[in-house]
Amino acid sequence: MKNLTIAIDGHASTGKSSIAKALATKYGYLYINSGSMYRAVTLFAIENNLLTMTKSNISLFIKKLREISINFKFNDHNLISEIYLNSRNIENEIGSMKVSELVSEVAAIPEIRKEMVKLQRTIDRDKGVVMDGRDIGSVVFPDADLKLFLTASASVRAKRRFEEMIKKGLKVSYDDIVYNINNRDMLDSTRSDSPLIIEKDAIVIDNSNMSIDDQINKISQLIEDKFSN
Ligand code: CDP
Repeated sequence: MKNLTIAIDGHASTGKSSIAKALATKYGYLYINSGSMYRAVTLFAIENNLLTMTKSNISLFIKKLREISINFKFNDHNLISEIYLNSRNIENEIGSMKVSELVSEVAAIPEIRKEMVKLQRTIDRDKGVVMDGRDIGSVVFPDADLKLFLTASASVRAKRRFEEMIKKGLKVSYDDIVYNINNRDMLDSTRSDSPLIIEKDAIVIDNSNMSIDDQINKISQLIEDKFSN
């Protein structure tokens, strides 16, 4: 079995991380959620009042990036690779609405992207890796063995995210979620640095009417085709 690099990009809240996690578990690969890194930087910016996007604040923000260390640690209990910001577990905090509302503005800043991409590329790919995000197949690993682009109708995506947040006990409004995912898609697709695009060699999966198992089966077939090539 070859150790593949699998890039999963796509629209907001398309279940990329659930699929990536399940594939990584199935094939014994490393799973990295690149979105959680942009969310971690956003949380740092919120906590340090760095989010008035004037030029002077952006340069202070970039200087402060040196104070940030982002790590992942595997939690043996829930089998999730959890994200740490300066040694603090922030896995739950990064899912907040506040972070979701600001993350795409932060992710559009080229200096921040440069640092995150550098970090993403330090990962040992000899083990096989599944990474999800917006620019994984286009910028981070343009030579990935398999590039997937996930999408679904906005209403299905909002419903899934709403249910996920309610399950976590978070107070959210469905309408805010619809607005947020549409707004992030627009910002992510139109920014000048590393916009969300469908790479020519990516396989598009619309999962509006697919279960997680349907998706895993379909993608596993694609992976096994790569093994036999
Ligand atoms: O909510 P969802 O899981 O779809 O998003 P995420 O993967 O947590 O990513 C949050 C945000 O981070 C995105 O809306 C993008 O603005 C940004 N992002 C990015 O710019 N590049 C990546 N490789 C991953 C995320």
